[in-house]
Amino acid sequence: MQNSLRPLFWNEGFIPDRGGIDLLTAEACQTNKRGLGYRSPVVQPSSFEHHNLLATEWKDYELLQCGNGLKRERWGEVRLIRPDPQIIWPLEEPWGRHDAIYHRSEDGGGQWKFKRQLPEHWQITFAGLQFKIRPTNFKHTGLFPEQASNWTWVMKKIGGAGRPIRVLNLFGYTGAATVAAVAAGASVCHVDAAKGMVQWCGENVKLSGLGEKPIRYIVDDCVKFVQREIRRGQQYDAIIMDPPSFGRGAEGQVWKLERDLWPLLESCHKILSGQPLFFLLNSYTTGLSPTILTSLLFQLMKSASGNCYGGELALPITGDSRVLPCGIYARWEAV
Ligand SMILES: C[S@@+](CC[C@H](N)C(=O)[O-])C[C@H]1O[C@@H](n2cnc3c(N)ncnc32)[C@H](O)[C@@H]1O
Repeated sequence: MQNSLRPLFWNEGFIPDRGGIDLLTAEACQTNKRGLGYRSPVVQPSSFEHHNLLATEWKDYELLQCGNGLKRERWGEVRLIRPDPQIIWPLEEPWGRHDAIYHRSEDGGGQWKFKRQLPEHWQITFAGLQFKIRPTNFKHTGLFPEQASNWTWVMKKIGGAGRPIRVLNLFGYTGAATVAAVAAGASVCHVDAAKGMVQWCGENVKLSGLGEKPIRYIVDDCVKFVQREIRRGQQYDAIIMDPPSFGRGAEGQVWKLERDLWPLLESCHKILSGQPLFFLLNSYTTGLSPTILTSLLFQLMKSASGNCYGGELALPITGDSRVLPCGIYARWEAV
């Protein structure tokens, strides 16, 4: 994609450099006593900007085409078409070359239709990290490529810390963030309720040549695990989490983001070390805005000195001046 086509409001790996937290720093309004229901602002929020991040450093992955609720992507040498409900604009050109397409079924499930025989799995590289790719029954491939903006940031933060960093990766899925953190020199505790996902993380770690690095693999409910870590007095310098809207713990515990996220964040705060480095929160929950996510982190970390900001995570579309927003994030980082 040509740089000139890229909209200016998207930041490429942009990290704001500001002295202190500056999001929603005050009560926005107070009731004005002169008239019922009339509210006048007494203190303006000092900043209300989103820092949208575009994952532009990929070589093995490319978003080729979007339209009609579908996207065509290149994963190494393999081209896949799969649904994305956010793509509500029409397809402009007929679909280009592809090896498989995911068809949704009436009951909400779906399946891959292969145009040529593909290997059961293959691998792709990002910044020297190796990831196993496999088209799964739920249309996923085992990697969220827009998260690359976060992996780069995580590596930079850990590499620049100048001290040993202990990371907790909750809802860690196939472990891309775990691989990035370990590659940068951290020790990581990777937690996910699904045994298959934790095993896949182990495979990514080995593929990346990091099999001997300090990683704890935990198959458990994140809420239960963090409670246990509080009782054990364990501490972490950095926490990463990507909670789903709805999920189940290893023993069937129900996770509902709106109900359970804040109590989990509060519990996580209790296991932060005295010198926290960062807190990274991601979400794919429809209706949850970056401002909400950032506000949660701002409230959680208000007694520590740091920056707090958030925005959308997006991918460039080849040959198109638009980008595809894929999820949201919020970060707190020590200053
Ligand atoms: C949205 S995915 C995470 C995506 C991943 N962080 C990435 O960037 O590639 C959510 C993960 O949360 C896990 N999960 C759901 N509910 C859970 C719970 N209560 N405890 C632990 N893991 C859970 C699922 O198994 C799934 O792997």
